[in-house]
Amino acid sequence: MSDATLPPADELAQRFARIYEREPILEVRGLGKQFATAGGSVQALRDVSFKVHRRELVCVIGPSGCGKSTLIRILAGLETLSSGQVLVDGKPVSGPGRDRGMVFQGYSLFPWLTVKRNVMFGPEMSGHPHNVAEGMARQWLELVGLSDFADAYPHQLSGGMRQRVAIARALVNEPRILLMDEPFGALDAQTRAKMQTHLLDIWKNLDVTVLFITHDLDEAIYLADRILVLKAHPGEVQEIVEVPVPRPRSPAQFSSEAFRATRAHIEALIHPPVVHHTMPDEEAAAPSTMIRFTAVDDNVE
Ligand SMILES: Nc1ncnc2c1ncn2[C@@H]1O[C@H](COP(=O)(O)OP(=O)(O)O)[C@@H](O)[C@H]1O
Ligand SMILES: [Mg+2]
Repeated sequence: MSDATLPPADELAQRFARIYEREPILEVRGLGKQFATAGGSVQALRDVSFKVHRRELVCVIGPSGCGKSTLIRILAGLETLSSGQVLVDGKPVSGPGRDRGMVFQGYSLFPWLTVKRNVMFGPEMSGHPHNVAEGMARQWLELVGLSDFADAYPHQLSGGMRQRVAIARALVNEPRILLMDEPFGALDAQTRAKMQTHLLDIWKNLDVTVLFITHDLDEAIYLADRILVLKAHPGEVQEIVEVPVPRPRSPAQFSSEAFRATRAHIEALIHPPVVHHTMPDEEAAAPSTMIRFTAVDDNVE
């Protein structure tokens, strides 16, 4: 029952030493972001620094409003930063680029294009001839298991299938980094679990580095090498947690000691024990197996 015990500390240290030996693909240095608002300004991010190494899978977790989407939008080049630096492969990011692919929570496919045309869109925009783009789309649709749906339209697909198309559409451009902002957040629990395993399969077979935002602790632990825990107001790095759960991951590990210890550790970071706090009845009456963040400033355990 190796699953039931924590992996030896030196084994874990070696695993992370191997990761840190790889070159950093993404480097965030002292990143700050202020938004101008009607009443003044909002400090969304403050002094955020971290590195993501080649082929690493890093999850970002934190309560609603802590700046997760702002962070990933800055990394994608869709939003400017107020201070600090973001480097991809050592070069400062100054806008969107093909080295970064993005998958959003909402379905961002073109509804008037077929699945295949959606995936072909990027390669065609970057100048590949139609037949080459079509071949690329077919290849990536096969990888996400949607070859049979190449000629379907997005509205004919389930939520999970649409997110597979969104992943194919991002990967077809062969990005160095795949940026994912709560991509499975709108899916039912069963589909979400399948998509998590599917993502790990894809990631294992590609030279791609993944930064994955979630507010689901189980999802973060299941997927990540490391978890960046953010706290809110302003969004700051609270801790970067090395996940001690061995790879390859499987759902059976959810009950392993390593998994539960990581979960308890991060839960304590996010929800430090609160004294003198009464819990609203409905929250108390609805225990959930899935740990989720609720509202900003919500101290309910
Ligand atoms: N365009 C904007 N203008 C003003 N404030 C914003 C804007 N975008 C985000 N914010 C604020 O920045 C903070 C972080 O938001 P966001 O990055 O969406 O958080 P998260 O994704 O973690 O829920 C919030 O307080 C939010 O209200
Ligand atoms: Mg968000």
